Amino acid sequence: IVTDLLRCGEPSLPPHALPPFHCCPPTPEAAVVNFTFPDAAEPLRTRRPAHDAGDDMAKLARAVALMKALPPSDPRSFYQQANVHCAYCTGAHRQAGTELPLQIHYSWLFFPFHRAYLYFFERIAARLLDDPSFAVPFWAWDLPEGMRAPPEFFSDEASPLYDALRNPRHVPPRVVDLDFSYVEKNITDEEQVELNLRIMYKTMVTNAKLPSLFHGQPYRAGDRAMPGAGTVELALHNVVHRWTGDLSRPNNENMGAYYSSARDPIFYPHHANSDRLWEVWRGGDISGGDRRQPRHVDFTDSDWLDSSFLFYDEEARLVRVTVRDMLDVEKLRYTYADVGTPWLDARP
Ligand code: C2O
Repeated sequence: IVTDLLRCGEPSLPPHALPPFHCCPPTPEAAVVNFTFPDAAEPLRTRRPAHDAGDDMAKLARAVALMKALPPSDPRSFYQQANVHCAYCTGAHRQAGTELPLQIHYSWLFFPFHRAYLYFFERIAARLLDDPSFAVPFWAWDLPEGMRAPPEFFSDEASPLYDALRNPRHVPPRVVDLDFSYVEKNITDEEQVELNLRIMYKTMVTNAKLPSLFHGQPYRAGDRAMPGAGTVELALHNVVHRWTGDLSRPNNENMGAYYSSARDPIFYPHHANSDRLWEVWRGGDISGGDRRQPRHVDFTDSDWLDSSFLFYDEEARLVRVTVRDMLDVEKLRYTYADVGTPWLDARP
């Protein structure tokens, strides 16, 4: 699958969508460049849990404020960054060489696309902050201490991290329900935490033994969109989107709809956690050396490895990245703080 940027067109939006109704990126001023890895001498950015992120939450707020202050025509502006998600999820982009709309959810493109998206978002933020070590904190909804939404996103309507379109029943200290299907449960916080840990085990271990189960189904050039989601996308990532969005809006905006979710700044820490779970699934160093976490290997299929997407980078250059470029976080110069995997104890 290759993105054809020059044929970005009308998104297919749900009824009663909220403006803006277009989400194509600005036309590039120069030719597309191929991705190159950052300099190996760059500081390694460590993404920390939002509940224990030191200065990084305040820096994220400042970075989002700086992005919001850029003119909307600037590809690094918050407006354009949010639009990236809209364009890739509503069929505004086409697969190169076909008329088929491109959709990066519900397939094996889910993890690599969002990794690349967050990679560029983070580098733009770091550049605007003039702080090369800045890393986007992750909302650790899989850990008991991270199961409340980070309060910085809710405390102050004037904060750049605030978004009015959220479920008012789910403001902190409400514990996230990783089994949320639009109905509130009548259980204690302790029971909710236990339930969440069991869901984590099932999603990360029991049901994710193969790449196609964890990542999602193959999606090759010429295929119809959305062949099937992986466990984390479906059972965790989507649930947290739905739990966060405003149920009184027709499409559960902002977080509950593809076209609007990245308009809420909490999207980025949410995706940092989803991305972290990919590293955990692979059994890398950040699993705390807990050998109960099985190691897994990604797809080796070249149709996956060669799939490509386009993003504007921190220099506002349009860059083509392939899935192959996104497989080694150390080469991408970031890592995650090791916060353990307590749900490995929640084997049913
Ligand atoms: Cu592209 Cu969290 O969705």
